[in-house]
Amino acid sequence: MMLEQWLQQILEGYTESELTDAYQQLSHRYRQPNYKPGFQNEVEVKAYAAARMPATVAAVVRTLKELPHTFSPTTVLDLGAGTGAASLGVLQHFSSIKSLTLVEQDGRALACAKELIQFLKEDIQLKFTQQNLCDYADDKPIDLAILSYVLNELPSAEQQEIIEKLMANQSRYILILMPGTPVCFQQLLILRKIAIEVGYFVAAPCPHQQACPMATASTDWCHFKARLPRTRTHRLFKEATLNFEDEKFCYLLLSKDAISTNAARIVKNPLHRSGHSLFDVCDNGELKRIIIGRKHKSLYKKAVKLSWGDIF
Ligand SMILES: C[S@@+](CC[C@H](N)C(=O)[O-])C[C@H]1O[C@@H](n2cnc3c(N)ncnc32)[C@H](O)[C@@H]1O
Repeated sequence: MMLEQWLQQILEGYTESELTDAYQQLSHRYRQPNYKPGFQNEVEVKAYAAARMPATVAAVVRTLKELPHTFSPTTVLDLGAGTGAASLGVLQHFSSIKSLTLVEQDGRALACAKELIQFLKEDIQLKFTQQNLCDYADDKPIDLAILSYVLNELPSAEQQEIIEKLMANQSRYILILMPGTPVCFQQLLILRKIAIEVGYFVAAPCPHQQACPMATASTDWCHFKARLPRTRTHRLFKEATLNFEDEKFCYLLLSKDAISTNAARIVKNPLHRSGHSLFDVCDNGELKRIIIGRKHKSLYKKAVKLSWGDIF
């Protein structure tokens, strides 16, 4: 079942104003300093699913493309699963999965995720665990653990504890996504440093294991975007007219095994001028600007197809 169809199904019985009011209340609470994260009722869960899932699924799918093409995970863990966005993304991306576990503290959100994921995939081993991530322990190593838009809701010490537990379990890949804000970027930098100290490797977005050249920049922070179409349901929450939206996110993909890369990552929107294009890249721990003129015909033809977030 496609996400849009499922969303229409779970929203049945609610009026547009019930849903938009609930989403506004939820996002208003999240904008307060020292907010207490979490859903307060069923309608907030449904409104979150409709307003945010298309974007969080798009960001997850975008980052899964950074995993090696030869990687075929069989065991996947979706931590802070919410209404199932990361699980949906991972099931759409990989056909190799045999066991998928979703861990979520909110019973209403988990029930929503269960409905969606069971509909989508009933021939694999599915586990739905209602638990606080800090208390969750899985002693088996897993192929891929995803924490999508959840760690940013937790204090720094808890973020670290959860990532350290996953590394102690020898998880093969750990994918962390957060909103594309400077605060979340700084939180990821701390986790990045800890992971490297423990002996894990950064598979993406950094094409190197050195210090981040944006760590101390005053205006720049490493973040990316996923463009997604806005459906009618989606537009309802956004009070927007455009038929697409750009989801800004930060992410970190950690690998237990060493990564070898000599590529550069495009870290901003490329600028296309009349005779040339400019690409801001992170290369070997340094920020560089690469200029490619039209006269370098074959190189230019390849380069203009590249976007923010791609490997150069
Ligand atoms: C913003 S939602 C993200 C949901 C989903 N991963 C996504 O990408 O759309 C954050 C989710 O994390 C859950 N969460 C927050 N702190 C948690 C904790 N300590 N243990 C378990 N779940 C938690 C919340 O209940 C909520 O469902």
